[in-house]
Amino acid sequence: MRVFTLKKNLNEAVKTEKKSGKTVGFVPTMGALHDGHLALVKKSLQENPVTVVSIFVNPTQFDNPEDLEKYPRFLERDLHLLEKTDKNLIIYLPLAEDLYEGSVRAKPYDHGGLDRVMEGAFRKGHFDGVATVVHLLFNAVQPDKAYFGEKDFQQLRIIQHMVDKEKLPIEIRPIPIYREKDGLAMSSRNLRLTDEMRQAAPFIYKSLMKAREMAEQGFTPSEIKQKIRELFSRSPLELEYFEIADEKKLKPAGDFKENKHYRGFIAAYAGNIRLIDNMRLK
Ligand code: PAF
Repeated sequence: MRVFTLKKNLNEAVKTEKKSGKTVGFVPTMGALHDGHLALVKKSLQENPVTVVSIFVNPTQFDNPEDLEKYPRFLERDLHLLEKTDKNLIIYLPLAEDLYEGSVRAKPYDHGGLDRVMEGAFRKGHFDGVATVVHLLFNAVQPDKAYFGEKDFQQLRIIQHMVDKEKLPIEIRPIPIYREKDGLAMSSRNLRLTDEMRQAAPFIYKSLMKAREMAEQGFTPSEIKQKIRELFSRSPLELEYFEIADEKKLKPAGDFKENKHYRGFIAAYAGNIRLIDNMRLK
């Protein structure tokens, strides 16, 4: 594996690969890698002769300093996992000042209204931080394709929107959610759950399944939302939001229209760990 920390050196290495006609796949991560990340890496390896994986805990997308401080960091273990996955990976471990070219600040982006709900509404400035760092990473790596998990579905839509708006020549490849055997969506944050909360957390998946069942039975979005809130009020988890929105514009749904796909989106606290998940309902 080749490991780079400076943008200039990474850029030269990628350019050399591209000159020989190879396509480059890119998997941006914040580390603490799990099978969900490795699924993205494997997909990129299948589709491209060259794959770059970045590990960078991006400070500008955290609205809560404690969350940033406590975000799990296991660099050595991550590098070992990546080496085991494929020895030819290119690893990019950016230095904040080099990546951001000076002051480490988020730029304001127009997300076309996709940030008005859910994560955008509850985590102020989060998506400006995500768009800023992903844009900078794209400039550094210059990939042909970039891989993002559907667990962060709103992030995925916001990045697709940014790529379209900025006319970046990059194909965004969405990858389905990876789940533990009990349904809990894989997340680096799961590592911080207490045993008790780890046991309770699959309730998020179960309630999404319940929402899907109700959607199939013909219940309206507001009836489903009411039921899910009621279920959470009797669970050890604290619901921050449950929303049903169309997949394209992420507009909260008044009713289900025939020609559109809808997802249920949840953010909930398991103790003091905030978890998110989503599922296609229709
Ligand atoms: O999904 C993540 O891990 C992060 O938001 C990303 C895309 C790597 C940007 O920091």
